[in-house]
Amino acid sequence: MGRTPWSAADAHVGLLESCSVAEERVQGDPRGPGGPPHWSLPLAIIALASLTACRQDMHDQPRYKPLAASDFFADHRSARPAVEGTVARGHLRIDEARFTGKISGEDIDQFPIPIDRDGIERGRTRFNIYCTPCHGRLGDGNGMVVLRGYRQAASYYSDKLMKAPVGHFFDVITNGFGAMPSYASRIVPDDRWRITAYIRALQFSESAKITDVPADQRQTLPVEPPPSGIAPSAAAPAQQGNR
Ligand code: HEC
Repeated sequence: MGRTPWSAADAHVGLLESCSVAEERVQGDPRGPGGPPHWSLPLAIIALASLTACRQDMHDQPRYKPLAASDFFADHRSARPAVEGTVARGHLRIDEARFTGKISGEDIDQFPIPIDRDGIERGRTRFNIYCTPCHGRLGDGNGMVVLRGYRQAASYYSDKLMKAPVGHFFDVITNGFGAMPSYASRIVPDDRWRITAYIRALQFSESAKITDVPADQRQTLPVEPPPSGIAPSAAAPAQQGNR
């Protein structure tokens, strides 16, 4: 973008120039070519004043008020519908696996996003916020709401869910399942994968052996063995906190 053709500075310089021309003419032949010298200054002022008439103010340009009728378009709508296929910024979802948990209708069994320790930690916080009221912190299906009479939530340690592909968990969070509502409006897709990763960690911890723990970290484990099975009464060891 160049500078505007007429700035205040230009006008000022122009005015000064015409003034000095006028001055020269006064000193030279007063009836020199170009007409009487005393016209130059008023002319410059008139020219300057006429410049303001060329302005197009933004608040004054042609526009429609929101949702006003229009004679220009055949359907008389001034608010134009989005062109077919328009995608709002940040809403492009062409990665089927990542946003549906499926490929050609089949649940996937590989995480479509990288999962690292931070991701699992994030999954844990989301799980504790959204899932524990019904599924409990241990994922055994005995959350507080269930203890107060809500329909029994699923235990993640059933044979079926131990073997279920990760895409199934994503699908259940996204679309709900039986009495369980959908969490799609509250949990963004990538967090659904992180929650699923945390559920996998919970499931793994259920059948983990001491040899799965790196040798140098075995000492830091609690002395008491974890409860076998996940009976609700037995499942309140100090390290789990309240469910
Ligand atoms: C309001 C209670 C409630 C909340 C909150 C809840 N669930 Fe559930 N969930 C249920 C119930 C009840 C069932 C059993 C559904 C049925 O049998 O009708 C269930 C079932 C499931 C199943 C098993 C589906 C199957 O294939 O059998 C999974 C997996 C699951 N929930 C995951 C989650 C996750 C992950 C969250 C958190 C994002 C969550 N749920 C939050 C109530 C809940």
